[in-house]
Amino acid sequence: MKDSNFLKENNAKFLWHPMGHPGQLRTHTPTIISSASGVRIRDIDGHETIDAVGGLWNVNLGYSCTPVKEAIAGQLDALPYYSAFAGTTNTAAIELSYELQEWFGVDGMTRAFFTSGGSDSVETALRLARQFHKIRGDRGRTKYLSLKKGYHGTHMGGASVNGNNRFRTAYEPLLPGCHHIPAPYTYRNPFNESDPEKLADLCIQALVDEIDFQGAETIAAFIMEPVLGAGGIIPPHESFMPKVREICTQNGILLIADEVITGFGRTGDWSGSRHWGVKPDLMCLAKAITNGYFPFGAAMIAQDVAETFETDTSGAASIGHGYTYSAHPVGAAAALACLAETKRLDLATNAAARGREMFEGVSGLMDKHELVGDVRGGHGLMTAIELVSDRHSKTPADKAVAAQVAQVAYENGVMVRVSGHNILLSPPLIITPEDVQQVLAGLDAGLAAAA
Ligand SMILES: Cc1ncc(COP(=O)(O)O)c(C=O)c1O
Repeated sequence: MKDSNFLKENNAKFLWHPMGHPGQLRTHTPTIISSASGVRIRDIDGHETIDAVGGLWNVNLGYSCTPVKEAIAGQLDALPYYSAFAGTTNTAAIELSYELQEWFGVDGMTRAFFTSGGSDSVETALRLARQFHKIRGDRGRTKYLSLKKGYHGTHMGGASVNGNNRFRTAYEPLLPGCHHIPAPYTYRNPFNESDPEKLADLCIQALVDEIDFQGAETIAAFIMEPVLGAGGIIPPHESFMPKVREICTQNGILLIADEVITGFGRTGDWSGSRHWGVKPDLMCLAKAITNGYFPFGAAMIAQDVAETFETDTSGAASIGHGYTYSAHPVGAAAALACLAETKRLDLATNAAARGREMFEGVSGLMDKHELVGDVRGGHGLMTAIELVSDRHSKTPADKAVAAQVAQVAYENGVMVRVSGHNILLSPPLIITPEDVQQVLAGLDAGLAAAA
């Protein structure tokens, strides 16, 4: 590795970062993380913090998961790569597909299509949904519905169903035929409704209205995150996703659960769909599937969707989609080790318990700091703090205020994520009660400094 002077000198000079302004990053250089262990990361100056971001919602097992590292090293020795395009496959991918249908069998998922990450998994699910209808002769079903505030990655398909203009406007025009429904976001919504159950019903009415308007026979799929993540951590009322499921079924629309964040225990259940008692038709996975140690993902497919493809004799079900790295053996080996560790450590149970502590703690900070307008969470280790400059008018706090909260929290030993005027917390699922208290103390210091 080059010395720290070289790295600081060249930080972001030749590297464009995702989700950042290339010019601004030259003057406001990113924090250089150089090592990590357990749930803690260290920057190039040796400053250590607890990682309340969990990498990017993906390092559920923390940074020192030896079985995953060994599985990767072992697979690199045995077979570092071979393609899964028609005609060949590899042992790790076969084993993983078996394990995943066991893991997500409760959610009705019986097949896996492997990808290189979340955006790929979303793209795959969107495409398979259209193809499903075409195989059945329902050729007019090409549109997609989704939630405002939803995040589904940055491929053209994913950006088109994305519900935040921050990820859309610069790249328009996007895919035609994508329509958005209000999110069940109690703090801000077009109905001025703060009761979660009533709001869920209003959003469902909006969904029904949009289906009537578009014509059910033109809609391929509805995609949603069981708990909205990057859009500000918005857990819907428990009635919402089951009602979406009902409406989709009634109208022949496939339900895609984007579980890129919520898969593998983050909500306190092994999937977000299971958290709400829903069986989707397609499920998007990535992130924690390999704990962030290798880029990997999967689109999971329900039995009846799979049967439509597998029993086709016309040729329409031939899949003209895939990636060079689909079913990558090293990713598959990493995923197998992650599944085993995730199960062995029962991370969903820890996520539920620590998530409750985190949510209660942050709610306590709301009583103390006027800057906190809303706190969302209570469903596993996903907690958001929405910062406002005035609680009455709910005026979003300035970006600089959120940045100051994060900076002071960092100086006090906690890395948090800033998204607009929200602070998002998604720590590794292995965190301890003491770690949670450290996160809360860091935030307390950050909020006090920015008041
Ligand atoms: C719900 C959801 N879907 C899709 C994606 C895209 O995943 P990736 O960044 O791996 O492409 C993300 C990433 O944060 C996500 O949160």
